[in-house]
Amino acid sequence: MLILGIETSCDETSAALVENGKAVHANIIASSKLDFERSGGVIPEYAARRQLECILPVMTECLKAAKCTEKEIDAIAVTYGPGLLGSLLVGTTTARTLAWLWNKPLIGVHHHQGHLDSIWLDQTEEISFPILTLSVSGGHTELWLRESHTTQTQIGSTRDDAAGEAFDKGALQLGLPYPGGPELAKLAMSGDEHAYDFPVPLAHEDGLEFSFSGLKTSLKYLLRDLGVDAEKHFADIAASYQHAICMHLVRQTKRALEKHPEIKEVHIVGGVSANTRLRDMLKAQCDNVTIRWPQTLAYCTDNGAMIAAAAFFTQNKAVWSTQASAKM
Ligand code: KG4
Ligand code: ZN
Repeated sequence: MLILGIETSCDETSAALVENGKAVHANIIASSKLDFERSGGVIPEYAARRQLECILPVMTECLKAAKCTEKEIDAIAVTYGPGLLGSLLVGTTTARTLAWLWNKPLIGVHHHQGHLDSIWLDQTEEISFPILTLSVSGGHTELWLRESHTTQTQIGSTRDDAAGEAFDKGALQLGLPYPGGPELAKLAMSGDEHAYDFPVPLAHEDGLEFSFSGLKTSLKYLLRDLGVDAEKHFADIAASYQHAICMHLVRQTKRALEKHPEIKEVHIVGGVSANTRLRDMLKAQCDNVTIRWPQTLAYCTDNGAMIAAAAFFTQNKAVWSTQASAKM
C-alpha cells in the first residue's frame, strides 16, 4: 500500500511516498526556517504564504524522486492538526483537491500520531508493543503508553512550555539564530555541563508532568547576574542548560518505567529526539530497556513520511478516517 503523506502544520512543507508504513520511497521537505532568523520565531502568515508557493513543486519533486505516477498511489494522508491554521489549510486543501482529482481515499492524521509512528520509517528490526514513547518537539512534550498503533494513553504532558520551546527560548537569550535547539546543542558540545547548577524541574513531585518555564527564568537571572562577563561562558551555560532539560526528560521517563515495569521498549520522537545528549543520557540511565529514535534526523523533525506511516497503521479504523475527514 503506497501512501502520499502531506505535512504543513508549522514552517515545513513536506510530501512523501511511503509503502506499508515503513519503506520510504521519497521524503521531500522545504523549510522556511531560515526566513525567520531575524524574527527569532515563525510568523504564521508568512509561513503559510511560503507553503502556498512550495506545495506543488514539493509534490512534483516527490513523485519524481520516487519515480512514481499518481496511478500507483493508493491513498492520500494529510496532517489535519494541531498546527498553524493558515499552514494547515494549505496542506488540507491540496490533499482534498488531489484526492478528488485522482479519486483516492483521503486520510486525516493527527500531527502527534505522525511523530509517534515515525519510528517505523525505514525500520528493519521488529518492534513489539507495549511501548513507552517520549514525544518531544517545539509544540509538545508528552509521554505515551502504547499498547498498539491505535490503543494508546497519554500519561504525561507539559504544564507550560514544550522541551523544544525551552531549547529555542534559551538559545534566543544566548543570541543564537532560530531555530535555536540545534544551535544550542552545537554550542553545548564545547562546554562543561556541570559548570552551572540549573534546578531540574519538578524534582520533588511524584507525577509524570513536565515544566520548562522555570528553567527559562533561571537562565534569564543567570545572564543578568553574570552581566558583561556572560558571553565568555556561553558554551558552559548552554551545556548546563541543555543538561537540565535532558535530565528532566530522562527522570520523568524513568519514573514512567518504574510505574510500568512491563515496558521493555522506549521510543523518543519529535524534533528534540535529534539531540544526541538526550539520546546518550536516556541510554545510560534506562539500561534495561531498548531505546529507539527515528532512523534519520529528517524523521525526527516534521516530515510527510511520518504522516503516511501513521495513516497506514491507523487506516483500518474507519472511525478514525471519518472523524478526521469531518474535522477538516
Ligand atoms: O518536531 P518538530 O520539527 O516540530 C514541532 O512539531 O514542533 O520540532 C522542532 C523543535 C524545535 O524546537 C527545535 O529547536 C528542536 O525541535 N530541535 C532540537 C534539535 N533539533 C531540533 N532541540 C534540541 N537539540 C536538537 N538537536
Ligand atoms: Zn512536529
